[in-house]
Amino acid sequence: MTTHSKLIIAIDGHSSCGKSTMAKDLAKHFGYKYIDTGAMYRAVTFFVIKNKLFTGKIIDEKLLQQAFKENQINIEFKYNPIRLNSETLLNGKNIEQEIRGIEVSELVSPIAVIPFVRHELVALQREMGKEGGIVMDGRDIGTNVFPNADLKIFLTADPKIRAERRFKELKEKGQDVTFDEILKNVKERDFIDSNRKTHPLKQAEDAILIDNSYITIKEQVQKVIKLVNQVLNKKTEREN
Ligand code: DC
Repeated sequence: MTTHSKLIIAIDGHSSCGKSTMAKDLAKHFGYKYIDTGAMYRAVTFFVIKNKLFTGKIIDEKLLQQAFKENQINIEFKYNPIRLNSETLLNGKNIEQEIRGIEVSELVSPIAVIPFVRHELVALQREMGKEGGIVMDGRDIGTNVFPNADLKIFLTADPKIRAERRFKELKEKGQDVTFDEILKNVKERDFIDSNRKTHPLKQAEDAILIDNSYITIKEQVQKVIKLVNQVLNKKTEREN
């Protein structure tokens, strides 16, 4: 197989349905870069929490916008060769652990609806992915960030199954959470993500829908590798 073409692969879908697992597996298989856009919204949320730019779920948008203008929010990804993982840095500091906790998860949706936050992060995502050879996961990658992506996948699963998976994952990390709390958070995020005014979560017309409630990670990744290879073959044929 010739792999001259460096594809842009967009993976969107509901929260906690394994988008990042799929994206990482694909990136590894094809030697592509993986970009977790959710981590970028989480990094902004971490900044808001650290700097106390909120009261309840109300964000101090004026101060947050000022922080962006003054370049106080620099987000990068760095590959960790020990954990074999790409980790999120905010202003040079590794915040990978902190952004996965319930505190950030509970505040991230109201932050992701703020138009200037989306504007800033989308510009950064386009910059990060412009050379191709990337797998990017999020909510609006196929509809907004890269509407011309070579392959678009829309991933979903039953909310209860997603909450169960997330609950198990957080428990394993030693976090003090209940299943009901997680299910509520999953449903709340679905609602906010799908109903916000700016770039809501929705399946792009040309995206391929995968419901992974009852398929294994292995089956899922095999299915998507096949799809990527089909696109690569078509592209290579066109180029030759
Ligand atoms: O994928 P995740 O759960 O880490 O995403 C965290 C939040 O960020 C989620 O509530 C939706 C938001 N998000 C978004 O609005 N657009 C993206 N491209 C990625 C994430």
